[in-house]
Amino acid sequence: MAATKRNGLRARLADKHVCICLGAGGVGKTTTSAALALGLAAAGQKVAVVTIDPAERLAAALGLRGLSYEPRQIDPQLFAAQGVAMEGEMWAMMLDAKRTLDDAVARLAPDEASRREILSNKIYRELSSAVAGSQELSAIVKLYELHHEGDFDVIVLDTPPSRNALDFLDAPNRMLSFLEGRALKMFIAPGGLTARLLGRSTGLVFSIFARVTGVDLLADLSVFFRSLSGVLDGFGERTREVAELLRDRDTTFLVVTSAETDPAREAVFLARRLSDAHMSRGGLIVNRFHSDGLGGYSAGEATALLEPELGDRLATRVAANLADFDVLAQRDQASLRLLEGELHERTPVLVPHLDEDVHDLAGLARVAEHLLV
Ligand SMILES: Nc1ncnc2c1ncn2[C@@H]1O[C@H](COP(=O)(O)OP(=O)(O)OP(=O)(O)O)[C@@H](O)[C@H]1O
Ligand SMILES: [Mg+2]
Repeated sequence: MAATKRNGLRARLADKHVCICLGAGGVGKTTTSAALALGLAAAGQKVAVVTIDPAERLAAALGLRGLSYEPRQIDPQLFAAQGVAMEGEMWAMMLDAKRTLDDAVARLAPDEASRREILSNKIYRELSSAVAGSQELSAIVKLYELHHEGDFDVIVLDTPPSRNALDFLDAPNRMLSFLEGRALKMFIAPGGLTARLLGRSTGLVFSIFARVTGVDLLADLSVFFRSLSGVLDGFGERTREVAELLRDRDTTFLVVTSAETDPAREAVFLARRLSDAHMSRGGLIVNRFHSDGLGGYSAGEATALLEPELGDRLATRVAANLADFDVLAQRDQASLRLLEGELHERTPVLVPHLDEDVHDLAGLARVAEHLLV
């Protein structure tokens, strides 16, 4: 299908350095992020895309098979081999939530000893892998780091497959309220819970526990909170800066959705939240859009048109298939009108439902053609 009317996305992104793709699960956030990065790089910019759990084949196409915690440039020859013109540079990385968090803690620790103490602490290790929302938070932390290193013209950020895409926007605030909250203060205040836990009677219970199980929970706990308190101020400050980056003039969000009812409803909520939080919306992307069907013909007319080429039986079956497609196309049109109205969006970006999964650079380039027309 040929790319349709201009959607103006290229112009809307022209002065942006950070572009974050948000949307419900499975709508195409990872695909859109990678395709957008490719499209912007193809036109001459140096672009990094931070992906989260890309499907295996796509990861391989982006050169992300091995572990990489920093963006790596995709070999320009790979684009040439797939017939994709590339004027700029495309870099890609896959987010590793735990590693990003460890790096941030390590950087904020006041000295080498506390750094080692925290990272090797059993409780930190459990917490850092288990903390709800740590993926969202570390995605933003990584974004912040890349932004400040200043190596790229544009950074495109994919977001995690959250149950609720709003979790992503709330991640820094949730972390801040945890850091500033009473629960943590109770533990780390002098004479606080940790100190009291070390008191004689409970101390006794813990030391019996340690003898029986071999796990010195109390010692781990007290070391954890003691060493962590040194990092907390830095972490709170960092979280605040990260929250500011989301509101920065150079940052914009793309709301990605399909035309199905639930994702479209989530897109409406997301767009409202963005605007309430004074975060910029760079565009609305309606992915996997169905617009081809009988093209205005009735099923009988289509059969008659196809019959000379295909024969009677095949022509009837193809026309019936196209009619099924029309049902989807009508649903997608209705959904699009609703989205345009609710989001006051005059130039939604439509990406057609392609025949195949998007798993290589040529596939991403096809999506990019629709994104940046
Ligand atoms: N326009 C399209 N046409 C055909 N297939 C598509 C299109 N866009 C995405 N896909 C396919 O849909 C699947 C889901 O896409 P993707 O992984 O980008 O979604 P996601 O929003 O990142 O999902 P998650 O929320 O799980 O992270 C992939 O197999 C991808 O190749
Ligand atoms: Mg994804």
